[in-house]
Amino acid sequence: MNLEGKVAIVTGGANGIGRATALRLAQEGADVVVADIDMERAGEVVDQIRALGRRALAINVDVTKSDQTEEMAKAVLREFGQIDILANIAGGGPRDRRAPFHKSTEEVWDFVIDFNLKGVRNSTRAVIEHMIERKSGKIINIGSTAGTMGSTTKMMADYAAAKAGVIGFTKSLAKEVAQYGINVNCITPGPTATENFLSRNPKEVVEKLASTIHLGRMGKPEEIASMVSYLSSDEAAFITGSNILVDGGVSLGF
Ligand SMILES: NC(=O)c1ccc[n+]([C@@H]2O[C@H](COP(=O)([O-])OP(=O)(O)OC[C@H]3O[C@@H](n4cnc5c(N)ncnc54)[C@H](O)[C@@H]3O)[C@@H](O)[C@H]2O)c1
Repeated sequence: MNLEGKVAIVTGGANGIGRATALRLAQEGADVVVADIDMERAGEVVDQIRALGRRALAINVDVTKSDQTEEMAKAVLREFGQIDILANIAGGGPRDRRAPFHKSTEEVWDFVIDFNLKGVRNSTRAVIEHMIERKSGKIINIGSTAGTMGSTTKMMADYAAAKAGVIGFTKSLAKEVAQYGINVNCITPGPTATENFLSRNPKEVVEKLASTIHLGRMGKPEEIASMVSYLSSDEAAFITGSNILVDGGVSLGF
């Protein structure tokens, strides 16, 4: 992929799939903004990107707050003058989730919807008018198999709702902005072995989960990043409104 001369914002770029994406886009030639709340790790990613000879910037942004995403877009335009790619990767569940829906609280619901759905709304809203003016842009969102098939954990109805929302948002926005030369797509990863996932789950749990996946293993963050890179490139110019499965066959069911 050739992304030289492109400026990308990667939300959640400090860790996991976002980190792999930020590095991959830089390897393909893009200048990259790592937008995250984890500034220590974001700084490490920025150092790695600069070592590749690309410009990079870490921005402390909580994607659930629209004033912060607006500031993020302004800061990127001040620093780089353009925004070509927005990879909306920040998302996930609450760290201390313990309850199924019938025992869950409104606070957890709000947290999950804000983090996974409103965050995508906020970051996209912050860049979209700029992309419309330039008649060019690539927006890549991250769904989940929970959003297409329901969660297998029996505890994540809120997350499934948010991710289904991301997929619907992707398709509808794609129709709205196609006339401006903007591509909007979604990637649905299967279970992906990020550092955070591996550190929070015992080896037996990881192995059991992997055995339920048709390809017999969890995905790697780099495999999701690879699809983000493709969708960010001109090679994917005729793809919009798609939800692309990178899930090891999980969506096939059994
Ligand atoms: N890992 C998986 O198995 C998997 C599967 C399907 C979908 N996904 C999705 O992929 C995306 C990335 O997941 P991951 O596993 O790499 O997560 P991760 O926990 O490894 O990384 C998430 C990043 O988001 C940042 N973040 C947290 N709150 C934030 C906020 N309010 N604003 C900005 N940044 C914030 C964190 O600091 C972290 O850097 C998420 O949207 C997740 O729902 C992950």
